[in-house]
Amino acid sequence: MSVRTLSGSERAVSAARSVRGSVQVPGDKSISHRAALFNALGEGHARISNFSPGADCASTLGCLRDLGVEVTRSGTRLDVHGGQLHEPANVLDCGNSGTTMRLFSGVLAGSGVYAVLSGDSSLRGRPMGRVVEPLRAAGARIDGRDGGRLAPLTIMPAQLKGTEHRLKVASAQVKSALLLAGLFADGETTVVEPATTRDHTERMLAAMGADIRTAGRRVTVRPRQPLRCVDVEVPGDFSSAAFWMVLGVLHPNADVLVRNVGINPTRTGLLTILQRMGASVDVRNQRDVAGEPVADIAVSSSRLRATTVEGDLVPLAIDEISLVALLGLFADGETVVRDAHELRTKESDRLAVVAEGLSALGGDIEATEDGWRIRPARLESARVDAHDDHRMAMLFALAGALGNGVEIAGADSVAISYPSFWADLERLTQA
Ligand code: S3P
Repeated sequence: MSVRTLSGSERAVSAARSVRGSVQVPGDKSISHRAALFNALGEGHARISNFSPGADCASTLGCLRDLGVEVTRSGTRLDVHGGQLHEPANVLDCGNSGTTMRLFSGVLAGSGVYAVLSGDSSLRGRPMGRVVEPLRAAGARIDGRDGGRLAPLTIMPAQLKGTEHRLKVASAQVKSALLLAGLFADGETTVVEPATTRDHTERMLAAMGADIRTAGRRVTVRPRQPLRCVDVEVPGDFSSAAFWMVLGVLHPNADVLVRNVGINPTRTGLLTILQRMGASVDVRNQRDVAGEPVADIAVSSSRLRATTVEGDLVPLAIDEISLVALLGLFADGETVVRDAHELRTKESDRLAVVAEGLSALGGDIEATEDGWRIRPARLESARVDAHDDHRMAMLFALAGALGNGVEIAGADSVAISYPSFWADLERLTQA
């Protein structure tokens, strides 16, 4: 047994002697949210396959049902009937999901229903001013705690106007919220990003017949309703696959194949980082599935050299940057991550939580204002706290498997994006 359940939400992971086999990760979380929400706004009916089994996407479905949308689910198969959104009788619960709260803010701001969006304590502490302020500039009637900076958010019917938004933070959630609001505006809406972020929204809205155009970091949408419902086959989540890629590269006795992974270039910054570090990564069998590129990714034990991750690469690996801290502990030289201040605004303050957890495990890592400095170190066994952040729990599990074992508090949080993570870890590793 390489994974044991301790009390409550704690798991123990033992050192792995090998990491071998093939694995298929759950459907992409970002694409699943969008497939459900956008089709709810379309005309007709859509079938979605390989829908994410994570709790975040269940939050999106719960909100849609509360808005009167007909959604039926059978495992990872989803049927969504498009139509009008209806005023919800109660507060919409976004759970732990920032994507749900921000994307719904945009849609609800324009769609003429009164609604309140809330979520768990982590989500209620995350910055919402970044979406509230530009929505207000477009005429939205939206407010929240602390002048609109924090959830719960209250949204009232309003006619939105076409607006040009120049974003200060690179955020696909904010970009998407504004583009979605733009579907209901009285003129053209443009979003200019400071750096390229994931473009699943643009791809899916275009496939649904929206008038949307991208030119570099400038995206423009015109309010040409109605949208057509489209069937979506959700690719495996690159952000979940990333854990096996990193484990396979770092373990000295490893050979792993991750099948059916989305490799949209706005998501694959980690591939660039791994290649720069000298990792053995082979992207095979590339194909296109419903407008998104997909491949199988094979990795094996590699000797790594340190690198610096900064600038425009950060948003392309935003959910994988924490794994660079682990890579750095095994690479020759000093690895530096900077320009990653955004990690402080995720499900936990990831700059702090990664440094705290990996240091407890014997890692030589120092948090800076906007990243880390990491040097090679031998890992020891320790008890660490994932702070109920799914990606932190999975990161620490890898550190335990690669080093000398680990006990993780807050380990159940993996259910947010990857409920079968512990079973897959058990299957791929030999204690
Ligand atoms: C997401 C965008 C990113 C990412 C999150 C999912 C999305 O957040 O971290 O996990 O689906 O649009 P930001 O837009 O806040 O960077």
